[in-house]
Amino acid sequence: MAEEAILGHLEKNDEISDSGDFASQSGIDHNEIVNVIKSLHGFRLVDAQDIKREKWVLTNEGKLYAAAGSPEVQLFLAVPPEGISREELQRKVDPSVYKIGCSQAIKNKWLEIGKQQVSRKVQQVEDTAKDLLTRIQNEEALSQADIDALKRRKLIAPQTWKGYSVRKGPNYAPKRKKVATDLTRENLQRGDWKELEFKEYNFNAKGQPAEGGHLHPLLKVRRQLQMIFLQMGFEEMPTNNFVESSFWNFDALFQPQQHPARDSHDTFFLQAPSTTKMLPEDYVERVKHVHEHGGYGSRGYGYDWKREEANKNLLRTHTTAVSSRMLYLLAQKPFAPKKYYSIDRVFRNEAVDRTHLAEFHQIEGLVCDRGLTLGDLIGVLQDFFSRLGMSQLRFKPAYNPYTEPSMEIFSYHEGLKKWVEIGNSGMFRPEMLLPMGLPEDVRVIAWGLSLERPTMILYGVDNIRDLFGHKVDLGLIKRNPICRLGIE
Ligand code: PHE
Repeated sequence: MAEEAILGHLEKNDEISDSGDFASQSGIDHNEIVNVIKSLHGFRLVDAQDIKREKWVLTNEGKLYAAAGSPEVQLFLAVPPEGISREELQRKVDPSVYKIGCSQAIKNKWLEIGKQQVSRKVQQVEDTAKDLLTRIQNEEALSQADIDALKRRKLIAPQTWKGYSVRKGPNYAPKRKKVATDLTRENLQRGDWKELEFKEYNFNAKGQPAEGGHLHPLLKVRRQLQMIFLQMGFEEMPTNNFVESSFWNFDALFQPQQHPARDSHDTFFLQAPSTTKMLPEDYVERVKHVHEHGGYGSRGYGYDWKREEANKNLLRTHTTAVSSRMLYLLAQKPFAPKKYYSIDRVFRNEAVDRTHLAEFHQIEGLVCDRGLTLGDLIGVLQDFFSRLGMSQLRFKPAYNPYTEPSMEIFSYHEGLKKWVEIGNSGMFRPEMLLPMGLPEDVRVIAWGLSLERPTMILYGVDNIRDLFGHKVDLGLIKRNPICRLGIE
């Protein structure tokens, strides 16, 4: 109806000079007129110019007085011609009517308010305030003095009125043709796309907010850990190969070939390609020798070391495989101290349960320098874990084939009120470092932990399958807060 009225009016007239007047003349709600103008303007059937007007509207208090009379008149009427005691008057009227009414009635010299008694000073009064408020409601013009008086009493407030003046636009037609917004399969099948008029693209329209690109909690925690390592001056190791040879994953780490972890029950071996092609031969010889006969002050394991076993490809079971490659590379150059870290995926042939998956992420850090001690390891771990919000640490002697001494790391968890194991650490053995060619006084302190453990604690996830894998609720990833390590 509004659309017909506007287009129809423009057919016979040059313009609608004021949408407000047009609305009251045509008896259509102004909001509806405005909506139609906006839509017609969008399709350029009309051109529209904004009109803004300041107008006065009643405040809640103003509305009250427009209906019930001003407080001064209400008070005056409550005073009988023979007068009334103050106490009784106060009982008769509302406290706010009494208070405001008194001050206005005194100002207008309507009432005599004595200590005990209140009496009329005039016979009759007129409710000017109420009249003025009614005139504002009817949108009548008032003198500036009257406006100021009402404004001062906070009975009226300014409001901006928005409307339009409207003329024919470049696409004007007395009736809007329905334009198509989409070319559909049906349009193509029926062939009616030839007759259809399509809505123009609005390249300035804002698109739907893009859904996607939410970071997984593991990625957020990984980022924070990366920042901690970088702040501590560590460099990232390249962890881009998930497939590793047994040599770098186990042998280089002085892990004997009959060690149970090297069993297919614990490790995923590759079928194709099943073996590695290239290993540094002279280094392989030294590794073989240290396994079989020892050296560098060690007795070795005294077994028959087999090259075929070292050649077997596997999915790396720990990122320490990367550390062994990096330390070997370091040993090929004149020695320089290094701090390395990595955070990436590892694989273990394990039964999946609430806390274990066959693949997870490992965080690994190592410091390589001359003369490092166990004290340095403890100090670095204190520094590292306190940046994660875990400052109470305890260490327990442990065993790894490649570290001596080795320590499990425990942290006191305020939420769980108990000590929880958070990682493993140690000093790499001379049987590992010396065959690589590192100088004799160089020590390497290192530690590792899973990325999943702190993430589960931080995000309150108690089943690892809710965090990682095909059963994860995508909503969890969309709603999760930015990771804030150390803030419980
Ligand atoms: N590689 C060990 C693990 O998989 C972690 C570790 C790294 C331990 C470095 C000591 C030194 O649990």
